[in-house]
Amino acid sequence: MNVLFINIKELIQVREHSVDFISGKDMNVLPTIKNAFLLVENGFIADFGLMEHCPNIAIKTIDASGRMILPSWCDSHTHLVYSGNREDEFVARINGLSYAEIAEKGGGILNSAKKLQETSEEDLYNESKIRLEEIIQLGTGAVEIKSGYGLTKDAELKMLRVIKKLKENYSVAIKATFLGAHAIPAAYKNHKSGYLQMLIDDMLPIIAKEKLADFIDIFCETGYFSVKDTAQILKAGQKHGLRGKIHVNQFTAIGGVEVAVQNKALSVDHLEEMRTEDIEALKNTKTMPVALPSCSYFLSIPYAPARKMINAGLPLALATDYNPGSTPSGNMNFVVATACIKMKMTPEEAINAATINGAYAMNLQEKVGSITKGKLANLILTKKINSYNFIPYSFGNHQIESVFLKGNEIKKA
Ligand code: NIG
Ligand code: FE
Repeated sequence: MNVLFINIKELIQVREHSVDFISGKDMNVLPTIKNAFLLVENGFIADFGLMEHCPNIAIKTIDASGRMILPSWCDSHTHLVYSGNREDEFVARINGLSYAEIAEKGGGILNSAKKLQETSEEDLYNESKIRLEEIIQLGTGAVEIKSGYGLTKDAELKMLRVIKKLKENYSVAIKATFLGAHAIPAAYKNHKSGYLQMLIDDMLPIIAKEKLADFIDIFCETGYFSVKDTAQILKAGQKHGLRGKIHVNQFTAIGGVEVAVQNKALSVDHLEEMRTEDIEALKNTKTMPVALPSCSYFLSIPYAPARKMINAGLPLALATDYNPGSTPSGNMNFVVATACIKMKMTPEEAINAATINGAYAMNLQEKVGSITKGKLANLILTKKINSYNFIPYSFGNHQIESVFLKGNEIKKA
């Protein structure tokens, strides 16, 4: 699709040269061009600059007067393929049960797994695509989706095939992650090592052969999988070319961050509980810390200590964690606002975290995440706003007038 945007009040997240990710103090710098144009050719960003240098060409032109353009949100952590919902557990938590107590009673991840096992691939696809379409309208232009609510060979493969079908049918960029080690299924209750071995011996070779996943994940947490299990899964993934993106330090800090770094994981996600040594382990590495503030909000657990991490020179990405248990929301606008309000990130830091750093956490930094020539024209056109600070300021709302994927406007269904 070819289109020329003119009179853009402010073009946000402009990077002349592609960067991998932004860390530390640099996160507080958000490069922009005021009164700009943006040229899209064949779905890619072909040119941009000041209006006074705008080319005079006869193609479809959109006048963006008073409005801003930024790269689409990059949501590097979701579980949006799932079956049914868990609002009954939500009410149980309001009435005093904890997330852990609900899980012990057979709720939680095992509850979602039971529902998913009983759902056909077609129904699962149809349920999930509604959520995908919804987050596209909320400005997400690249998303990672995990398995992990199957917990049997058939059901995990069903989830991964649904993700593959979403990839084929939608122009949003999608990456898939194999999270077989999300919980220990009832059939393996006292035989965790057998379950892990099944994932590694029976499932990984099929997943690799059919190219059903880009990454591998494990829930490294007290009561779920240990640091040793995490090392085993990360190493098994490496053998099949799958880098780790792991759930770690959500409720307890048990050393998973260090093991993730040692095994060159692409990202470590959650990080609500961060010790000094976890921050140290991440310094000068290629592992992206990912915070999930809407999970903290929904479960009323601590927020990842963004200030501590950024002040220590680390990069940080923001993602939703969209899932039926801990975060039934895929709204990156809320994530960005909550990061500013609750984690004291500046709007510049939050926007960097939700775009270029999120892209890196999916290994998509060369395709999306900034306004850079050659990247996909996955874009957010805002409503008329005074400054980009209004985006997080207007929390619970969004400032999106329209969204574009590969230069095509995506109209509401
Ligand atoms: O990222 N923590 C592990 N997994 C999900 C929640 C799973 C669930 O409750 O269904 C998360 O928060
Ligand atoms: Fe998650």
